[in-house]
Amino acid sequence: MDKTPVRIELKDVSFKYPEGTGALSGIDMKISGGEFTGILGANGSGKTTMLKVIDGIMKNYLGSVLLDGQEIRRLSPRMIYGRMGLVFQNPDDQLFAASVYEDVAFGPRNMGFEEAEVHERVVNALRAVGMEECAKRGINNLSYGQKKRAAMAGLLAMGHEILLMDEPTAGLDPMGEYRMMELLTRLNRENGVTIVMATNSVELVPIFLHRLYILSRGRLKRQGTPEEVFTTPEEMESVKLRLPQIAELIWRLKNEDGAPFKKVPLTVGEARRLMLEFLKDGKEKGPGDGLLA
Ligand SMILES: Nc1ncnc2c1ncn2[C@@H]1O[C@H](COP(=O)(O)OP(=O)(O)OP(=O)(O)O)[C@@H](O)[C@H]1O
Ligand SMILES: [Mg+2]
Repeated sequence: MDKTPVRIELKDVSFKYPEGTGALSGIDMKISGGEFTGILGANGSGKTTMLKVIDGIMKNYLGSVLLDGQEIRRLSPRMIYGRMGLVFQNPDDQLFAASVYEDVAFGPRNMGFEEAEVHERVVNALRAVGMEECAKRGINNLSYGQKKRAAMAGLLAMGHEILLMDEPTAGLDPMGEYRMMELLTRLNRENGVTIVMATNSVELVPIFLHRLYILSRGRLKRQGTPEEVFTTPEEMESVKLRLPQIAELIWRLKNEDGAPFKKVPLTVGEARRLMLEFLKDGKEKGPGDGLLA
């Protein structure tokens, strides 16, 4: 029996923008405490809208959105922001102070912490995102990736139990993407932070996430583990996504060239293990018998 409490629940949620764009339709979703959930979807599929509805920013939805069992539109901002924070897709929408330090300090100061505690929180948050050397820099002359990490530090300094992340890796370089995902994984595993992350990065998702939803044109199409959600190249194309490249290669070898792979791996690490098994089998059977002989 699962005893982890449900922290966020969406029941038959639909949302329309004022001029009529239907952005979400009939969404049902439950997120338990301590989960690291991904919302995977193409551009315009409704990811940002969904996170803003969950965070209580957009209140005129149909259906119901519950935070710890309470309807979000009935909670005061303080009750929401003490527990849950949203890191915007575009850091320019989040950052507003003159310097990195001041921006990151704003949240904890607003929460009423003493200045010594504020300082410690700012330093720790900047260290967590690898920005400690940029504390005195002006926001306006940071690179996009640095802004993204500064915005993340601002939320970390407040120490939320639930983080909503809108495309946290978009616009970061390959190492930056990994560092961001590792940071989120650490927050989730070591600090028990519940994370909901919107993304379209099909390569990163199977390495880091255990539970996924696919959103397409405002509807949830699939949910489950990456293995359950990533199916065939054709199905992924129908939701304007694709398989990770390594998975696509092995899927084609298996299904179009008849290579006897038992499963389609989603990560390079898994594919490597599978290939090594093949090489070993091939050797045992002798030249000519094995697949890769
Ligand atoms: N402020 C707005 N006013 C009207 N329509 C909007 C607004 N913001 C988004 N939309 C529309 O709602 C739909 C969902 O947009 P949303 O930004 O939630 O998608 P997304 O999955 O976050 O896309 P992306 O990957 O490009 O960030 C799209 O059709 C979009 O054009
Ligand atoms: Mg978006």
